[in-house]
Amino acid sequence: MDRYAVFGNPIKHSKSPYIHTLFARQTQQALSYERIEAPLDGFAAAVMSFFAQGGKGCNITVPFKEEAFHLASALSSRAQLAGAVNTLKLTDDGLLWGDNTDGAGLIQDLHFNGVAISGLRVLLLGAGGAARGAIGPLLAEQPAQLVVANRTVSKAEALAELFQPLGPVTASALHLLDGKFDLIINSTSASLDGRVPELAGSLIHPDITVYDMMYGVTDTAFNAWARKLGAYRIMDGLGMLVSQAAESFAIWRGIRPGTRQVITELRRNMG
Ligand code: ATR
Repeated sequence: MDRYAVFGNPIKHSKSPYIHTLFARQTQQALSYERIEAPLDGFAAAVMSFFAQGGKGCNITVPFKEEAFHLASALSSRAQLAGAVNTLKLTDDGLLWGDNTDGAGLIQDLHFNGVAISGLRVLLLGAGGAARGAIGPLLAEQPAQLVVANRTVSKAEALAELFQPLGPVTASALHLLDGKFDLIINSTSASLDGRVPELAGSLIHPDITVYDMMYGVTDTAFNAWARKLGAYRIMDGLGMLVSQAAESFAIWRGIRPGTRQVITELRRNMG
């Protein structure tokens, strides 16, 4: 049976084995998918050993995506832009192909929820790895503008400069933002510890769409903040998680599983 895995540290709460098992059942593919916790100083060795033992492909999560980028022997253009790899595949000629499906997962989930990005004024909060992976795919959808805002403004400026050749992207400090956006995407890790970036409440208006890349059983801190201020079109990152997985599955298996039922199952099991 073909072997797949997800590498991270920590990894025990990863939902990827569950998601890929449901995909395999849905598409009638015989495969196994396991969690592997690589030591913080032993990622490359763990991945090489996995492939030496017959592994066909793997996902990579925190904190190894940049290391995976350097480990890959060939890269997709979106992985090059993201500077990070979340999907590795062993090719027929023995090369490690690196791709990044996170940004595509975000875009697909927004489309899935009826949000067309073309022409929108988009605000992306955060300038870490998650933001970097999203900017290229967001610009490819031709928003009217994309503002990257971060607590540490220099990081947002560096990303805006890097991606500026691809479209209308600028940087901002969090406190200088006002209410001229149609879509706000939160890529910061603030929701992980129940915090909300320091933002003006005037950003939120009834026509806004709010998307937190984090997810939870109840509203994330950011989504709860937006809801309280009157936003009602609110999404969390569970759909992005499933969509990026579907894209990885398609890279490995050449068949794209449906995401709707898997999102529903995951949501039900979280409750
Ligand atoms: P990831 O790979 O998930 O993007 P990261 O690279 O550690 O993680 O980046 C975390 C992001 O969340 C950063 O943009 C960080 O802002 P700083 O660059 O100023 O550190 C942002 N972040 C984390 N906690 C935050 C908070 N409480 N308020 C605002 N931004 C926060």
